[in-house]
Amino acid sequence: MTRNSMKVFCGNSVPRLAQNISKKLGFNLGKVTVDRFSDGEIRVKIEENVRGADVFIIQSTQAPSDNLMELLLMCDAAKRASASRITTVIPYYGYARQDKKDEPRVPITAKLVADLLSQAGASRILALDLHAEQIQGFFDIPVDHLYATPLFAEFFGKRNLADYIVVAPDAGSAKRSRGYAKRMGNLPMAIVDKRREKKDKPEALNLVGAVEGKKCLLLDDLISTGTTLIEATGLLLKKGAKEVRVAATHGVFSGEAIEKLKASPIEEIVITDSLPRDLPAGKFRVLSIAGLLSEAIRRIHNGESVSSLFI
Ligand code: R5P
Repeated sequence: MTRNSMKVFCGNSVPRLAQNISKKLGFNLGKVTVDRFSDGEIRVKIEENVRGADVFIIQSTQAPSDNLMELLLMCDAAKRASASRITTVIPYYGYARQDKKDEPRVPITAKLVADLLSQAGASRILALDLHAEQIQGFFDIPVDHLYATPLFAEFFGKRNLADYIVVAPDAGSAKRSRGYAKRMGNLPMAIVDKRREKKDKPEALNLVGAVEGKKCLLLDDLISTGTTLIEATGLLLKKGAKEVRVAATHGVFSGEAIEKLKASPIEEIVITDSLPRDLPAGKFRVLSIAGLLSEAIRRIHNGESVSSLFI
């Protein structure tokens, strides 16, 4: 197979992570200007030749939507500059929670974003812990979907897990949590029955499984307001859990989430650097996905299998 030269670019959403990925790949990020015109519109200019190149664009698409727009414009610029292939590396895929038409007159924004990316010129997607597996099917281009689970498993695996139980904070995350429990040496598992009557106001109602005397490890794809995890923690402690720790891939932390989580009885909160967050010292820990993503980029470029990274 002929290999075109690899070029890696990033926008403004995860600059530190992008730098770390490029360091691991062993070369500098490509030169691109991503700034604003005087009226606030986004201006993109790729400052080096990408004709025939295998282009990777690293960008999370968290709010504000400027991050998504930057990514779309970078794809369009690379396409029009005759890149041979454009892989968008999206550590955090924003709008993913709007993935179904579950009430009248609402958009399926996760699908719209997928269409926009393809239309802008993306040839393939490399994503991490999409909110729902089905989002892969929103794309008609190849999607490599990675998980942060191995990082969490390595992190917590260094501890004595004798009294641990993995807890899914809602039914939707049960499959992910089951896989994690298995990976951690067949730990037991429990599921919180969560209801969300109002937007951003989830309630933990019931628990499936026994947590009395156990150390709980709550596993989620993302933390936004923090309410899901704080509610779940309250229920687990009420049911006799000894302590609660959290592993969540994406630290979105909207509104007062960080303060609320800091003040909560959660002992420890482990996230990744899929989003740039400065967190207070204490209970927060950040694991880097730079190694995982750089290895995936390297293998995609070389036409090697990435499936061993999917677990
Ligand atoms: C829900 O389906 C997700 O997996 C998260 O549990 C949820 O979106 C977290 O949101 P918040 O932190 O606002 O409760």
